[in-house]
Amino acid sequence: MKVREVTVFGAGYVGLVTGACLAATGHHVRVLDVDRAKLETLSAGAVPFHEPGLAQIVSSAIASGNLRFGHADDVDSCGEFVFVAVGTPPTTDGAADLRFVRSVIDLVVLRAAAGTVVVMKSTVPPGTGARLSETLAPVGIEYASNPEFLREGSAVDDWFHADRIVLGGADSTAERVAALYEGIHAPVVKCDIASAELIKYASNAFLATKISFANEIARLCDRLEADVDLVMHGVGLDPRIGPAFLHAGIGYGGSCFPKDTKALDHLSSLNGYDFHLLKAVIEVNKRMRLLPVTTLKGVLGDLAGKRIAVAGLTFKPNTDDIREAPALEIIDMLTANGAEVRGYDPVGVVPNGPRTFEQVDTLAEALRDAQAVVVATEWPEIADADWRALTALMREPRLVFDGRNCLDGDAVRAGGGVYLGVGRR
Ligand SMILES: NC(=O)c1ccc[n+]([C@@H]2O[C@H](COP(=O)([O-])OP(=O)(O)OC[C@H]3O[C@@H](n4cnc5c(N)ncnc54)[C@H](O)[C@@H]3O)[C@@H](O)[C@H]2O)c1
Repeated sequence: MKVREVTVFGAGYVGLVTGACLAATGHHVRVLDVDRAKLETLSAGAVPFHEPGLAQIVSSAIASGNLRFGHADDVDSCGEFVFVAVGTPPTTDGAADLRFVRSVIDLVVLRAAAGTVVVMKSTVPPGTGARLSETLAPVGIEYASNPEFLREGSAVDDWFHADRIVLGGADSTAERVAALYEGIHAPVVKCDIASAELIKYASNAFLATKISFANEIARLCDRLEADVDLVMHGVGLDPRIGPAFLHAGIGYGGSCFPKDTKALDHLSSLNGYDFHLLKAVIEVNKRMRLLPVTTLKGVLGDLAGKRIAVAGLTFKPNTDDIREAPALEIIDMLTANGAEVRGYDPVGVVPNGPRTFEQVDTLAEALRDAQAVVVATEWPEIADADWRALTALMREPRLVFDGRNCLDGDAVRAGGGVYLGVGRR
C-alpha cells in the first residue's frame, strides 16, 4: 500500500473515525477542528465522545506517529487528500446548512496544492459538489463525493467492514480515492457526483420510511388487537423486505435521519417536486413522539405535579449522542405540562439549559416514586433490568410506557405495574 498524506476537517463522529481508521491502515493523517476543547481532549489521548472501540484505535494511531491533531486555522498545507467531515445541520426551513463546509473549502482553496483531492464525507444536498467543483477546479483541485454510512455505536467496525463505498466524481479522481480503501472488501459504486450525493439521502430516507411504516402498522395493531412484533417479524422474513428497521416505537432521532429527511424534502420542493411519501414519513415520526405524552395524559389526566421518569436519553443505545433524541422532546412536553421529570441514561448527558428536569445516576433513582415511566432508548442496561423490582419502586398507577418495545410486559405486571407498548397486544 502506498502511504498517503491526508488532512481531515472535523473531529466529530465521522471525521475522527475516518482519520483514525485511515491512520490505522498506515496513512499519515492530520485531523483538524475548530473546537479547542475537543482538540485539547484529543491531544491528551482521549476521545471526546462515546464510540465503542474508537479510543483504542486513536491511541495506537497516535503512538505509531500516523495520527496528529491541530486547529483548522493553523493549517499551512493539506497533503494529497482533504476529507471534509464537518457538520451540515438543518436551517430553520429544513435545508442543509453548508456554512461549515464552505469555510473549509475557502481554506482549502488558499492552502492546498494543485492536484489535491477534496473528498466530501459530510452529507451535502445533490448539486453541492458540482458547485464546489466550480470553485476548486480553477486552482487545480479535484473533487469526489464519498458519502459516509457509518452507524454511531459501531462506527469503527462499519469502517473496516463497510457494506459499500460510494465514489462520485471523475474516473481518475475516484480511482485515487478508491486506493485509500485498499484492503476493505466492499462493493464500490462509482458514479457522477449528484448520484453519489443522492445515494446518501435516498438511503437515509428509505430507512426512515421503514421505521415510519412499522409505526403506522403498530398504530393499526393497537386497533386490531394484533401484535406489531409478530407482524413485522413475519413481514421481515420476506428477503425482498428484510428485518432491519421494522421495529415499532417512538420514532427515529439522531443527527442524521431527521435532518436528512427534511433536507431531501426541502430540496425536492426547491426543484419543483412534491415528495408526498417523504412528507408522510416525517409527519408519522412527529406523531410517534407525541404518543407517550398523550397516552400518559389519557391515564393520569392532568400531568401537573406528577412525577414521571424517562429511561434513556440518547437517540439510540451505544452512543452518547443526544441530537434530536426523542427523549428530549418528550421531556420538554412533559415539563411543559407541569410534570416533575427525572431522566436516566447510562452514558448520555443532557447539558444544563432550558430543560428543567433532573438527570439522575441510576435507573432505580429515576423510577422511585414515579407514577409513570417512558422508556425512550433501548439500552441493554434498561431493557435487561429487573423490571419487576423496578416497577415495585414506583407509585400507583405504575404506568410503564415502553417506547421501544424492549421490555418484558409480564415482569412489569409482576411488579404491580401497567405495561403499555407501541402496537403490542
Ligand atoms: N454522525 C453520523 O452517524 C453520521 C453518519 C454519516 C454521515 N454523517 C454526516 O457527516 C457530517 C459530520 O457529522 P458528525 O456527526 O461527525 O458531526 P459532528 O458535529 O460530530 O462533528 C463535526 C465537527 O466539525 C467541526 N468543524 C466545524 N467547522 C469546522 C472547520 N471549519 N474546520 C474543521 N472542523 C470544523 C466541529 O467542531 C465538529 O467537531 C454531517 O454532514 C453528517 O450528516 C454523520
